[in-house]
Amino acid sequence: MSEKEVLEGLEDVIALESKISRIELVDGTAILEYRGYDIRDLAKKSTFEEVCYLLLYGDLPKKYELQDFKIELAERRELPPQIIGLLTHLPQYTHPMVVLRTSVSYLGSLDKKLHEKSREECLEKSKSLIAKFPTIIAYFHRIRMGKNLIPPTLELSHAANFLYMLHGEEPSSTAERALDMDLILHAEHELNASTFVARVAASTLADMYACVVAATGTLMGPLHGGAANEVMKMLREVATPRRAEEYVKKKLEMGERIMGFGHRVYRNVMDPRAELLRGLAKKLSEEKESIWFKVSEAIAEAVYKYKKLLPNIDFYSASVYAALGIPDDLFVNIFAMGRIPGWLAHIMEQYENNRLIRPRAKYIGEKNKEYIPLTRRE
Ligand code: COA
Repeated sequence: MSEKEVLEGLEDVIALESKISRIELVDGTAILEYRGYDIRDLAKKSTFEEVCYLLLYGDLPKKYELQDFKIELAERRELPPQIIGLLTHLPQYTHPMVVLRTSVSYLGSLDKKLHEKSREECLEKSKSLIAKFPTIIAYFHRIRMGKNLIPPTLELSHAANFLYMLHGEEPSSTAERALDMDLILHAEHELNASTFVARVAASTLADMYACVVAATGTLMGPLHGGAANEVMKMLREVATPRRAEEYVKKKLEMGERIMGFGHRVYRNVMDPRAELLRGLAKKLSEEKESIWFKVSEAIAEAVYKYKKLLPNIDFYSASVYAALGIPDDLFVNIFAMGRIPGWLAHIMEQYENNRLIRPRAKYIGEKNKEYIPLTRRE
């Protein structure tokens, strides 16, 4: 192999062609589109169910198509008894993301058509996984809290039904809309780490559940989906806007990262999702009289002052989730609930035009060493 430059973290490497989302910088502004539709339009005018349809089928549904799709999702919400048994048996201290990936793996073991990859079968598996993610998360949370399970209802939207199953009461329309928009904003983001991993797994022709398990494991890291949880820890530590500047300055002086800031793709430009979520966080905090948005704003101001870094989507997710009464350790799971249609669309795209993803490494270790038999090694 000829000597090629190593691009650390695969930064700016174009690894494949995709028709799912477009991220581009135009005149200093970041454009994000799902299947050609601007994220701002989708966030403001669409619903999560409609965006799932768009990502899976390639275009926006007609009215009757959306109606049917919503029913198909709602009918797939309930969990098989084996999965409820699993949720009951896992230790209560298990991280909810470990619960989610273990449940996905178990769902794979229950699927008699595990290895079938026709488009029709992939869509069936996709609808089932999208529908079941909220139920797995809400059921496990209620089980660990010693509360009764609230079965899913056919009547509510994806977002409202989740909040209903989690809290045991129907959410306000503001809360429903807030979660719905948050899920839309998280639904897809090109070759982020978890989606890339899902595609690598799909490129080996592994089954869909295996690909989703790989993605779920990858999302959990604090540099990816786990960031919102770390942001919440920071918000609690800072507690009041007037302590933000001192906190940020000290952290940066110690060479530490401030969670919820910086982005591999949106360098020096505002992440459009963060901008939209900021508006939502503000509205929700005012309505729920929550302090976290004000603390967030003070932190963002200080981070910009000392490091010229802008917030990313996870930064404002924290105050949105807190205002919705979602426990901190479920934050990554909400991200997964949003990202699952994106993962599935990429897995299908990979299956449909597959080439094994297998890059090379530049070897920098020792070479040509003499093998010394075990008896002579000291
Ligand atoms: N806090 C403080 N400094 C940060 C930072 C942060 N959150 N993110 C990046 N930087 C700094 C780095 O220290 C580096 O500074 P230097 O040039 O003075 O050494 C510079 O910005 C470039 O960072 P780099 O590590 O090359 O960026 P990356 O593209 O590899 O990393 C992230 C991208 C997202 C992993 C990174 O910004 C980060 O760790 N953010 C916090 C975690 C987070 O919010 N993740 C969610 C992403 S949606």
